[in-house]
Amino acid sequence: MYKIHCLNNISPVGLACLTDQYELTDNIEEADAILVRSADMHEMDIPANLKAVARAGAGVNNIPLDKFAEAGIAVFNTPGANANAVKELVLAGLLLASRDIIGGVAWVRDNADDENVGKSAEKAKKQFAGGEIMGKTLGVIGLGAIGRQVAQAAEALGMKVIGYDPALDGITVHEQISPTVEFTDDLAPLYAASDFITIHVPALPTTKMMINEDAIAQMKDGVVFLNFSRDTLVDDAAMAAALDSGKVTAYVTDFANPAVVKMERAIVIPHLGASTAEAEDNCAKMAVAEVMDFLENGKKTHCVNM
Ligand code: MLT
Repeated sequence: MYKIHCLNNISPVGLACLTDQYELTDNIEEADAILVRSADMHEMDIPANLKAVARAGAGVNNIPLDKFAEAGIAVFNTPGANANAVKELVLAGLLLASRDIIGGVAWVRDNADDENVGKSAEKAKKQFAGGEIMGKTLGVIGLGAIGRQVAQAAEALGMKVIGYDPALDGITVHEQISPTVEFTDDLAPLYAASDFITIHVPALPTTKMMINEDAIAQMKDGVVFLNFSRDTLVDDAAMAAALDSGKVTAYVTDFANPAVVKMERAIVIPHLGASTAEAEDNCAKMAVAEVMDFLENGKKTHCVNM
């Protein structure tokens, strides 16, 4: 009998996929495998019996990959399982940044006691007017499971898309994603052409603060920047300065931290990208399948550290 420990709440739909060779345990020391979402495993002692860790999600920055690899423990993630959920929130972010929906809704709430709120709203609404995303250019940095869905959805909404991904080439992008996405193997033209830029790359030492003063300087004046990947990709001080100067009109981020919550023109979402019932079920099902295939057959599908 294999024993599984859940470090976070894992969707029961996924746990129901465990066969009768498996049982859940509260005792991490006896676990053959751990299922995890956002719990930070960096300072954790390695349980004696552990053979595998599966993250129900794409990012693995909460897991010490090298430390586990050295101990012979395979780490898995679930790329693509929550991509639709993240894509939908990115679309919401595009719309929240182009129309002042947040300001308008807050105005209505603040005027809840006004008997003539309907009439007052008609007068007040001009301060919340915005623009449309149709016809605008969206730069997509990273065309993995999420970035490519964002690119396709944005095109379907009438946006022009320019995509960058160092692991791909133009032919692959046109075949696999869309024949009309403009592919660039250099970020400079993407920065120069985009009205909106969205980033979908993993948090790695090489991507840390890649959106810095120099990158922002290459962007169009008044650009909107969206970050549904990880906050470490963006230099917060450079972003704050760019928001203050108007170089960046809005910074939509799914990652609250002490710096961004103070930025007046940031729209900060509390990491809701993959927080849908559907995504949680999909990720849990994929994580459970990966762990079972590894423990029973030695297969390493979506293993990220070996
Ligand atoms: C991911 O890494 O898959 C998303 O950021 C969502 C999450 O962290 O659960």
